[in-house]
Amino acid sequence: MDPEAFRREAHRIADWIADYLDDPGRYPVLAQVRPGAIRDALPSDPPVSSEPFDAILHDFERIILPGITHWNHPGFFAYFAISGSGPGVLAEFLSAALNVQAMLWRTSPAATELEEVALGWLRKLIGLPESFEGVIYDTASISTLHALAAAREVVVPRVRSEGIAGRADVGRLRVYCSDQAHSSVDKAVILLGLGHQALRRVPCDAEYRMRPDALAAAVAEDRAAGWTPLAVVATVGTTSSTSVDPVGAIAQICEREGIWLHVDAAYAGVAAMVPGYEWVLRDAERADSLVVNPHKWLFTPFDLSAFYCRRMDVVRSAFALTPEYLTTLESASVKNLMDTGVQLGRRFRSLKLWMVLRHFGADGIRARLAEHMRLARLFADWVDASPTFERMAPAPFSVVCFRARPSSGDEGAAELLNARLLDAVNATGEIFLSHTRLDGRLVLRLAVGNLRTTEAHVERAWALLQEKAAELQ
Ligand SMILES: Cc1ncc(COP(=O)(O)O)c(C=O)c1O
Repeated sequence: MDPEAFRREAHRIADWIADYLDDPGRYPVLAQVRPGAIRDALPSDPPVSSEPFDAILHDFERIILPGITHWNHPGFFAYFAISGSGPGVLAEFLSAALNVQAMLWRTSPAATELEEVALGWLRKLIGLPESFEGVIYDTASISTLHALAAAREVVVPRVRSEGIAGRADVGRLRVYCSDQAHSSVDKAVILLGLGHQALRRVPCDAEYRMRPDALAAAVAEDRAAGWTPLAVVATVGTTSSTSVDPVGAIAQICEREGIWLHVDAAYAGVAAMVPGYEWVLRDAERADSLVVNPHKWLFTPFDLSAFYCRRMDVVRSAFALTPEYLTTLESASVKNLMDTGVQLGRRFRSLKLWMVLRHFGADGIRARLAEHMRLARLFADWVDASPTFERMAPAPFSVVCFRARPSSGDEGAAELLNARLLDAVNATGEIFLSHTRLDGRLVLRLAVGNLRTTEAHVERAWALLQEKAAELQ
């Protein structure tokens, strides 16, 4: 692309993005296309010769956009609502232009050092001590995988050279998490060669928090049966209901038993920076590792997961491996980010975290998180006051679990009513909600987390839910 054409198209795209970010609510939030529609609209063969950018952008609007579910939409209340904020988008633009690959310090000193600075800022904001060193991965799933790989490095002698398969000196290994923990823990256990059976899900109390007494009993029972505990994963903000495991009591068990404690605070960890919410990560400083996802609730465009570890030396001994062609003279005096993970090539992700933190400032972020929690409390109050809806879990942060009550009152009817209600509100194109199951019951979730979501959008969601529920009764 010649420089003039690039300048012209860059301006055009910047204008398009500015309009889009100003009002993503102009599109239906949930893509209303049939499976295969986008694929069928595109040629199956690649273009033989160059096409004008005009034509490419035209097809972007005509074919691609209708197949986009708009995570930036203020009516996006599904899963964990997120926002690709302006400063984050601009940082991605710059990062793509620089095309930095930060495997080694020398392959971009700024990328390596900015990562340290931005993660240091975030660490201070959420109240973790300096003993936690940070590294950026793409997702919380990968962060948790690295945490459990480090735990395996500690527990299994010579695992790096000898592995675990077929070894008579390595017994069965166990990882513990609650019955509400994210499926990324299952995947990590599977990938690390422990076998899915190595994961023991510990029961929760009535508010979906891991029961420490049940964890202690499980560890004792496993030890007696010859299992070796490898790690415990405590969750701060579970995926379904955002419950918070009692990290202090869990840490006490881990310290007594000598078990690696990893805290999955992917969603709720950032709440710790809001005055009054310091408790969220207070006991997490006793953990060995922790993950928090700025791409969830910190206005940082997907993807960016912050992994903090008190024992990064263990992560390095699990992953550092330097072939001749990657040796550098300065390696003893600098960090080479390739040493702290499985991937060699690394995007310049810290740029967007740095720009987001600078653009909003700590107070700006705190105010927005506090507002999201206020909106969720408001919605929870409406549900609580309604004779036709009921709340299904406490709402400590910005997610509310609820369901419509069927007029006939039995569980089968509740299931059907809520499945239909979810379809009906999502078909409006105005809002997008997702569901989960708590105690076997189908539950709807309203997750607030988008920068553009205001009280009016939450009111509209509530009006639509009431209207559609009344139609379906
Ligand atoms: C508690 C928790 N942990 C981990 C994850 C996985 O996140 P990621 O998509 O960054 O792997 C999620 C996703 O929602 C989550 O809710």
